[in-house]
Amino acid sequence: MDDKINAVLDAYHERIRQEEEGYGVTPGNSAREWRDTVLLPVGPETGQLINIIARSLDAPNILELGTSYGYSAIWLGEAARAAGGRMTTVELADYKTEYAKDMAAKAGLSDVIDFRVGDALEIIAGLPDRIDFVLLDLWKDMYVPCLEAVLPKLNPGAIIVADNMITPGGPNVKAYADAVRAAPNLRSILLPVAAGLEISVYEPG
Ligand SMILES: C[S@@+](CC[C@H](N)C(=O)[O-])C[C@H]1O[C@@H](n2cnc3c(N)ncnc32)[C@H](O)[C@@H]1O
Repeated sequence: MDDKINAVLDAYHERIRQEEEGYGVTPGNSAREWRDTVLLPVGPETGQLINIIARSLDAPNILELGTSYGYSAIWLGEAARAAGGRMTTVELADYKTEYAKDMAAKAGLSDVIDFRVGDALEIIAGLPDRIDFVLLDLWKDMYVPCLEAVLPKLNPGAIIVADNMITPGGPNVKAYADAVRAAPNLRSILLPVAAGLEISVYEPG
């Protein structure tokens, strides 16, 4: 990690610390308003892990579903650059993407990250094939539909990482765990790292 990346990660970690202490909670704001204000980050352990995995790939095409304010995009963008690859990250909220873009510029990663605003399923449909790494971290009812949409676009050996498989868990991630285990060409393991990561590898044939 170079100095610019470390400085940007430090800034995110400071904001994470403030959010854990109640930043974004104001009298009268709804749970939904709060959710749209805070980072909802994968956190540093998952950040390290996805960076290590993605860096081990050869010139990977990385796809992140759920940019939010761009924390995990820094970890994955750094991996893309180090491994000679590229990254696309997808987010519904344009104001979150603007923040994420600004942080990526500060980290010196603008050249490797393609920020897309819109619905994940529509954007996946327009992506070329040859995806090597996917981080699934959007609303949980989208996990199974996004899995179905990305599967035909994966390169052999591609890795899919799904966050929040243990915390908060719930029926949508259970459906996702069932779906990856039922898919004939996926081998999958649940790792009790941070909020719980389902890590799947695509092995066709
Ligand atoms: C948990 S946050 C992502 C956190 C981010 N990966 C990080 O670690 O910094 C989930 C994000 O997914 C976005 N999202 C939810 N459904 C989406 C969809 N259908 N298409 C694109 N983005 C979506 C939400 O707006 C939210 O910002």
